[in-house]
Amino acid sequence: MHVLLLGASGRIGRRVATELLDRDHAVTGVSRSGTVPEIEDPDFVAVAGDATDPDQIARLATGHDAVASALGPGDDESPELLAEMIEAVIEAIRRASVDRLVWTGGAGGLYVGPDTRLVETDDFPEEWVPIARAAIDAYEILAAAEDLRWTYLAPAALIEPGERTGEYRTAEGELVTDEEGDSYISMEDFAIALVDELEDPQGIHTYLGTGY
Ligand SMILES: NC(=O)c1ccc[n+]([C@@H]2O[C@H](COP(=O)([O-])OP(=O)(O)OC[C@H]3O[C@@H](n4cnc5c(N)ncnc54)[C@H](OP(=O)(O)O)[C@@H]3O)[C@@H](O)[C@H]2O)c1
Repeated sequence: MHVLLLGASGRIGRRVATELLDRDHAVTGVSRSGTVPEIEDPDFVAVAGDATDPDQIARLATGHDAVASALGPGDDESPELLAEMIEAVIEAIRRASVDRLVWTGGAGGLYVGPDTRLVETDDFPEEWVPIARAAIDAYEILAAAEDLRWTYLAPAALIEPGERTGEYRTAEGELVTDEEGDSYISMEDFAIALVDELEDPQGIHTYLGTGY
């Protein structure tokens, strides 16, 4: 596959790029900086592009088999930029005639009980509420794009750089927790889940949680 990867220079994006390249896919990696110094591979091209600009992304997406996103607003930027980015990317890929999109989302909108989302629980850190709410807004915009084959793939509650174990589980709309009740996934295993979903879609039109 030839994949346009948005946010390729980010913490999750770099690992998704590495996983794609290890599986012999070709990757065009987009970020505003246009560089991913950590990745040197003949099948990887780093390009500059602004994911809030549908014209730029449509131009870049043309000719690719699928688009994957690991976009996130910078620490000093508004979480609401997520909605702007997803709207622009949806418009762009329609124009570029690419219909497959796997979006790295947030765990906050996943259900932990019949009527309770993770973001609504007492233990959810206050400082993460704005980005979690913004990620739910982004999900709702994506969910309306029925003409696209989208998957909204959420990390576990906690995702960090770690080990590539090859083990993970997914759940539709629900937070994935391990035997101790912890919700965690390494960025390396999340990257595996994302590339698996691109290669062998299991969650079209689905909000999928990941974890162990
Ligand atoms: N538990 C959870 O639910 C959880 C935990 C962690 C992360 N996440 C989500 O996962 C996503 C990725 O997280 P991360 O930690 O890997 O983020 P990150 O390290 O901040 O990377 C963000 C990437 O997006 C790019 N970017 C930002 N704005 C852009 C724009 N306008 N146009 C093009 N590229 C842009 C950045 O590059 P430039 O700045 O050079 O453009 C960078 O490559 C985020 O949406 C985050 O909310 C969820």
